[in-house]
Amino acid sequence: MRLGVLLLAGALALPAHSIRIVQSNDDGWAELYIRTLNSALRAAGHAVVLSAPADDRSGTGSRDEPPAPRARPCAYDSCPARAGPVGSNATRPDLNWVNSFPVTAIKYGIDTFGPRLWHGAAPELAVTGPNVGVNLWLTVPFSGTVGAACFAAHDAGIPAIAFSAASTRRAAWDVSPVPDRSFVYAQLATALTNKIVASGKPYLPKDVFLNVNFPKVKGACTDASNFKWVLSRINLGIFSPPDVEWCGSKRLPTELYVSGRGGCYISVSIGDASDKTTINDGRQKVVLDKLRDMLVCLP
Ligand SMILES: *[C@@H]1O[C@H](CO)[C@@H](O)[C@H](O)[C@H]1NC(C)=O
Repeated sequence: MRLGVLLLAGALALPAHSIRIVQSNDDGWAELYIRTLNSALRAAGHAVVLSAPADDRSGTGSRDEPPAPRARPCAYDSCPARAGPVGSNATRPDLNWVNSFPVTAIKYGIDTFGPRLWHGAAPELAVTGPNVGVNLWLTVPFSGTVGAACFAAHDAGIPAIAFSAASTRRAAWDVSPVPDRSFVYAQLATALTNKIVASGKPYLPKDVFLNVNFPKVKGACTDASNFKWVLSRINLGIFSPPDVEWCGSKRLPTELYVSGRGGCYISVSIGDASDKTTINDGRQKVVLDKLRDMLVCLP
C-alpha cells in the first residue's frame, strides 16, 4: 500500500488543470485496473465519471445495443441479481455500470451519467482502460476498449485515449492489497492524460484517438519512472504517405515493433477514430508537438 500512496501522491504533484473525464473499458466496471486509474485521475484533481460494462465484454469492438435487464449479479458480485439494465454504486454515483457493450456504456457516460453529475455539462476527455491485455495492430479493431475510445472521438467529438496493458492478471476492484502493476499503469496513464490536458484545447485533433500500450510491469520495469514513451503507428503503412519526421525518419515504428523491443517502452499510436487505423496527415505533427518533450527515440 505504501507504494500506492506514493504513486497517487506523485500523480497529484503533476501540474494539471482539472477537467471533466469520462472513463470506460471492456473488462467491466468492477475490474481493478480501471478503478485504480479512477483513483489516480481523481487524486490529480479531475472530475471523473466511470461508465463501463457490468461484466467482462472484451473483444466486442464497436458493438452497441440497448442495455437489457440483468438476471445475475455483475462481475465479481459487484451488483446484486436482478439489478436492472443500468446501475450506480449507491454511495459513489460517479461509478456506473451498463448491462451492454463498451460503446453503449461510454455513450451512457457521455449522455446520461456525466451530465447528471456535472449540471448538464459534457465530458471534455474520454479515457478507456487500462485494458487487461495489449491491443496491438491486428487486434485493435476487435477491442472494446478501443471501440469505446473511437466512439467518443468519432461519434461524440470528445478527444479520447485508449490504454492497454501487457500484465494480464485480472483482479476485482476491492482486492487488498492493490498489486503494484495496477498502481504503475494508473500512474503512467494519468501522466499521459495530464500531458494532453496541459497541452490545451483542442486536446487532440478531430477524429484522433491515442492507442497506448504498456509493457509488462516486471524486472526493470516496476517503477513508473523507468518507462519511456515512443510515438508509433498502428499498422505498417507500406503504401501510406510519409509520416511526420521524427527520430530521423519519416516512418514511425509500428506499435508491435515497439512492444517487441523489450525495455520499458510504451507505444503511443496516433489512431484514426473513424477506421481504427493510423492518422497519416498533418494531425500527426499536432500530436507530436503536444507530446514531444516526453517522448524518446528507440536506440
Ligand atoms: C461502492 O462504493 C463504496 C464507497 O466508496 C465502496 O466501499 C464499494 O466497494 C463500492 N462498490 C463497488 C462495486 O463499486
